[in-house]
Amino acid sequence: MRTQVAIIGAGPSGLLLGQLLYKAGIDTVIIERQSPDYVLGRIRAGVLEQVTVDLLDEVGVSERMLQEGLVHGGFEMLFQGRRHRIDMHSLTGGKHVMVYGQTEVTRDLMDARRAAGLPSVYNAANVSVHDFDGSQPAVRYETDGPHGKQQHRLQCDFIAGCDGFHGVCRASVPASAITEYEKVYPFGWLGVLADVPPVSHELIYANTERGFALCSMRSATRSRYYVQCELNDKVERWSDDAFWAELRSRLDPEAREHLVTGPSLEKSIAPLRSFVAEPMRFGRLFLAGDAAHIVPPTGAKGLNLAATDVKFLSAAFIDHYRDRSAAGIDGYSERCLRRVWRAARFSWWLTSLMHRFPDSAGFGQKVQEAELDYLVHSEVASRSLAENYVGLPLNFGSGR
Ligand code: APR
Ligand code: PHB
Repeated sequence: MRTQVAIIGAGPSGLLLGQLLYKAGIDTVIIERQSPDYVLGRIRAGVLEQVTVDLLDEVGVSERMLQEGLVHGGFEMLFQGRRHRIDMHSLTGGKHVMVYGQTEVTRDLMDARRAAGLPSVYNAANVSVHDFDGSQPAVRYETDGPHGKQQHRLQCDFIAGCDGFHGVCRASVPASAITEYEKVYPFGWLGVLADVPPVSHELIYANTERGFALCSMRSATRSRYYVQCELNDKVERWSDDAFWAELRSRLDPEAREHLVTGPSLEKSIAPLRSFVAEPMRFGRLFLAGDAAHIVPPTGAKGLNLAATDVKFLSAAFIDHYRDRSAAGIDGYSERCLRRVWRAARFSWWLTSLMHRFPDSAGFGQKVQEAELDYLVHSEVASRSLAENYVGLPLNFGSGR
């Protein structure tokens, strides 16, 4: 089998890249290790920057999002028992974010790929990438056939590594060719999804004595809540009642009164990590999304970064095939990394500001309180937060 771009991974990065290349007339095959149901079972963040909304629109996958997504012009910061609204809309000259779950983005992209009749291989086993330092890379994988395992070889011009943090692509690069930067935080997030109306019509980020909490949502009838928990905590230790009691203890009196509880549809614990791999290109292998970088979920930048990576990657392939130019390919890594580090910085900063750290009870905590106080009372500081939260423009700072 042969294609122009072999895409490894059918998460949001791989699927959106597939759609961008399809619109440009470039052939792709997506190879995914899991089943479609498994991919759709993962619950992740749900705040889309305008840049991401525009990209979904550009590839014709925005209809349901525009109907069902919730436009938010502000969010709230809760500390010392009081809520303070960050008016994103007025602070950024009219910008906002779209609250629409990553699971739904993935479903919409999957449906569009299927409707266009584009090839995807799910349940692919033992995926491996080869010869990307030469001119003829290839992907090998196995599928279940009627007579046992079937071996496949996909020849291609380029490989797009969209296979997430634990994927095979980054792991296939020689260690000497890659530099990894990592920060692991000393806590996790315990998250619950439930069919209950959100406690407030906007998101609440809370810094409390008992730790961070976040009130988010998927719709007017479905809520997503998180509480900071110990790194080695086990989800089995948390009954629904225990979760609701803990969340309630971290809210202000008004929110406590309005909180509606109910059975959890999903409950899980996620560790928090900042990670960046440099560079993002190795010959004809390109990393995009979580395969190249992870941000902690505070601020919900993960999916948005994945979307802009694949926008830059599709532009690079379009340069190559349409204009016979290597400029996009040669500039891909640097172009992405600039944006990646800005989001890594913001996510790290918001995480540091909002969580309780085991080793910073005294001075560290006082400084955190002073910064929160400054943040909500200084228009300049609030504007900086709002500008990063709604997302910086695609080519911010590059003059392009
Ligand atoms: N072969 C094929 N597919 C693989 C392999 C492999 N060896 N390893 C992993 N995959 C698949 C995973 O099963 C998954 O479906 O790659 C996909 C990667 O998807 P994501 O982890 O969702 O990563 P990405 O598409 O880059 O999306 C980034 O997801 O993790 C969140 O916060 C992150 O919102 C961000 C977004
Ligand atoms: C979510 O809805 O899951 C969510 C929202 C905002 C965040 C993180 C997660 O900062």
